[in-house]
Amino acid sequence: MYKRILRPFLFLLNPETAHILSLKSLGLVGKLPFGRSILKLFFKKKPKNLERELFGIKFPHPVGLAAGLDKNGDYYNDLAALGFSFIEIGSLTPNPQEGNPRPRLFRLVKDRAIINRMGINNKGIRYAIDRIRKEKPNVIIAASIAKNTTSKLEEDIIHDYMECFSLMYDFVDMFTINVSCPNVVGLQGLQDLSFLSDLLDPLLDLRRCYETYKPILVKLSPDINEIQLNEILDWCMLYGIDGIVATNTTRSRDNLKVSKSRIEAIGNGGLSGAPLYEKSLAMVRKINEHTKGRLPVIGVGGIMTPAQAKEMLDAGASLVEVYTGFIYNGPAFVGKIIKYLSDAKR
Ligand SMILES: Cc1cc2nc3c(=O)[nH]c(=O)nc-3n(C[C@H](O)[C@H](O)[C@H](O)COP(=O)(O)O)c2cc1C
Repeated sequence: MYKRILRPFLFLLNPETAHILSLKSLGLVGKLPFGRSILKLFFKKKPKNLERELFGIKFPHPVGLAAGLDKNGDYYNDLAALGFSFIEIGSLTPNPQEGNPRPRLFRLVKDRAIINRMGINNKGIRYAIDRIRKEKPNVIIAASIAKNTTSKLEEDIIHDYMECFSLMYDFVDMFTINVSCPNVVGLQGLQDLSFLSDLLDPLLDLRRCYETYKPILVKLSPDINEIQLNEILDWCMLYGIDGIVATNTTRSRDNLKVSKSRIEAIGNGGLSGAPLYEKSLAMVRKINEHTKGRLPVIGVGGIMTPAQAKEMLDAGASLVEVYTGFIYNGPAFVGKIIKYLSDAKR
């Protein structure tokens, strides 16, 4: 029904309008009496032998929602009713920010892809904390944190991450440090190890002050080179980062089916969806090889079919996340992946 009726209708709309409308509709259904139970009945599949324990957290199965869809934590329990094992909310910054001017979200339907330059539009970390205070999550929550676009000096940038981290610490199960968004000026530069270590060090120190342990993962771009990647991985293993999220969107425009003129007209932005898959898969493999499996990886990028989710797990990912695949396949996508993975276990 999604592919035949809902998606053609939604794809007639401007992508950002369709995105907002879909989430608001999901939220409305979730608020109806028995709304979430009905969603669960339709979409939530019972995983068989897919549970796993990572960083001290028990995941019912390995499929989560990637950052950027539930930016402010408005819909985590509604999305959980669709069957996700964990939800990455954010990316969140200390202060609310508008993001980049519109248009900033583009569908490449022929390529089953999206280009976005949203620029981490969000209502700020305090808004998300209020949400969690008001509505207890019934799913594992990861908070993706980032800096405000206006923070340019090193000390301000580090302060931004520390503020988000310390304010959010008691409210979520784990953290993702987003240093790889291609749409915020200077954010990808944070992946240089000299800077990244200055940023992660105080977060690791701060974590020692808390009684409970919350895992810290670092989200990387698929566009960094192998030397840079290996340096980051060695540092992360040495200093106690819990895992890597690989990958964010890519700046690459290779092997696209849409015309060059369309791509030029769209301009800057991060590409996600089908064309990203091989790059993300290769990066997951590289990480797993380099770390000899000692640093858990969440594989994300271009998973458009259940078989690709399995391939990503077979390549060494401990968990996977989807975003663009969810937009193209609809609310039944997670259930389909779970069924495929459960059947493959038999
Ligand atoms: C519209 C949009 C917004 C996104 N916003 C964020 C974000 O705020 N923080 C983040 O870490 N990743 C963000 N991402 C990247 C996704 O989390 C994911 O890493 C990427 O899209 C690749 O996965 P996919 O091919 O399954 O979409 C965004 C992606 C899209 C399409």
